[in-house]
Amino acid sequence: MKVLIFGNGYVGKRCQAAWPDAVLSDVRVTSKEEALEEIRRQQPDVVLNAAGVKGKPNVDWCDSHPFETMRGNVLMPLLLADACADAGVYLLHIGSGCIFYGEAPHPDKAWREDDFGNPSPVYSRNKWAADLVLSTLPNVGIARIRMPIDSIPGPGNYITKVAHYPKLMEIENSVTILDDLPAVLHALLERRATGIFHATNPGTVKLQDLIALYEELVDPTHTCEWIREEDLVPMGLAKKPRSNNVLASERLAALGIAMRPVHEALRDTMEKYARAKRQAAASAS
Ligand SMILES: NC(=O)c1ccc[n+]([C@@H]2O[C@H](COP(=O)([O-])OP(=O)(O)OC[C@H]3O[C@@H](n4cnc5c(N)ncnc54)[C@H](OP(=O)(O)O)[C@@H]3O)[C@@H](O)[C@H]2O)c1
Repeated sequence: MKVLIFGNGYVGKRCQAAWPDAVLSDVRVTSKEEALEEIRRQQPDVVLNAAGVKGKPNVDWCDSHPFETMRGNVLMPLLLADACADAGVYLLHIGSGCIFYGEAPHPDKAWREDDFGNPSPVYSRNKWAADLVLSTLPNVGIARIRMPIDSIPGPGNYITKVAHYPKLMEIENSVTILDDLPAVLHALLERRATGIFHATNPGTVKLQDLIALYEELVDPTHTCEWIREEDLVPMGLAKKPRSNNVLASERLAALGIAMRPVHEALRDTMEKYARAKRQAAASAS
């Protein structure tokens, strides 16, 4: 199966590395015609949209750049979906679980795939806007990911990010273990699965537990100060509250696509992360 990946960034590159037949496009899509021309040139069986605008240095950037955010996170996916429809090719779009804020209105407090989002910040509203439209289209699937936790150290990796923050929130979330993601996305692409999927590992992670594992396996000298979630904005650490939530992943399970239980996958990932850090330190010395 030849996958054409749009979005030459963190997730796009990670998928290309896992899929030998994939092509990572360097086309910047600003029109349906550009997307269609690239699809016709590459002749893929399916398309993955891993493009998007997350903001630099963080999502607060999107609040002051609403047009750039809209072009990358709403307009581009819709133009690409339109082009894929013309070419008769299935599209899988990477969405975000950060469209949900707080507890879901279900007894277990976990958000389902078809629940309506409740976002306020610009990034999350744009991701939700794309989901709202794309989920009405035939031959389109959406895989929502959250807080990517990766065995490879790097700036997009949630472990690397939080390990460097001096103050951390006491929060509990659903997360995506990146080592598990390419196989899940590939399974959705093979099935040309339509609708929304929560590509998050079963279970939840408390940030305190993740940091305890980091201190056990990576850096015993690590220190940080713990703050309450509601203190993040008043303390000037962010402009808008962050999305913290628990996602149920019922639609992946219904297709028989499994991700490892999160604590098993987290320990495995942290062990690999620690090895990679040790190797980098050894080759630098
Ligand atoms: N990483 C996360 O924490 C996370 C969590 C949940 C969901 N997601 C979603 O996952 C997707 C991939 O994220 P990522 O972490 O891989 O982000 P990333 O590293 O920033 O990569 C996104 C890539 O898309 C490119 N892009 C932007 N507009 C484009 C356009 N019109 N046409 C083609 N390419 C375009 C960007 O190029 P430039 O950099 O040159 O603009 C960048 O290379 C995004 O939709 C994001 O919302 C990510």
